[in-house]
Amino acid sequence: MTDDRLIIRQLRAGRDFAHNDPIAGQMANFVYVIGDREKGECVIVDPAWDVDGIVETVGADGLKVTGALVTHHHPDHVGGPLFGHDITGLARLLELVSCPVHVNRTEAPWVQAVTGIEPGDMVLHDHGDVIAVGAVEVECLHTPGHTPGSQCFRCAGALVTGDTVFLSGCGRTDFPGGDPEEMWRTLNQRLKSLPGNLMMYPGHDYGQVPHAPLSEVRASNPVLNVPELATFLRHFG
Ligand SMILES: [Fe+2]
Repeated sequence: MTDDRLIIRQLRAGRDFAHNDPIAGQMANFVYVIGDREKGECVIVDPAWDVDGIVETVGADGLKVTGALVTHHHPDHVGGPLFGHDITGLARLLELVSCPVHVNRTEAPWVQAVTGIEPGDMVLHDHGDVIAVGAVEVECLHTPGHTPGSQCFRCAGALVTGDTVFLSGCGRTDFPGGDPEEMWRTLNQRLKSLPGNLMMYPGHDYGQVPHAPLSEVRASNPVLNVPELATFLRHFG
């Protein structure tokens, strides 16, 4: 597939959508659009905050939304109640567009509880599953730790990591369903084998730069360089 056919767009809350929402701006979420330009189809990773704005943006780009991909169930990623606010997310997306919501099997009950979407709205995935967006293929990597069914998405030269790992640090493991031991396994075993030239796209704009090659992140992010579980638990557990 040619490079001009593949679309990977990084949208930042408060800048590229949800312009008038100061909380969205503070939370600094990234939403991703992965698509096939030739087919005019795309999926949206973690649609939240201003779903109407996101759908409008991709529509203006000539793309039809054919699915939503969920990294994990937290309301800043999928919608739902947060700090007394009701964040729009998957439920609103399904009002606007009829499309499947791709979720890790383990995360499905959590997503349902937070967003109110129905089991029939979801397609459940296991580690290694591939989702087709036109001719573009997106591989699901099960990366538990931040939540039980957190997943990263690998597509061509890109790795979308949600809150599993940021350019610096990783997602918290002290929320319900979080597990520091699983997080160590995810970061220091599962993600270890991935090639360093993948461009890492995190779930939040917490870094000096919005994305970076995995090799650079590995060199600077201590959570990815802990061979011993006990050491990880001591420092990050
Ligand atoms: Fe999260």
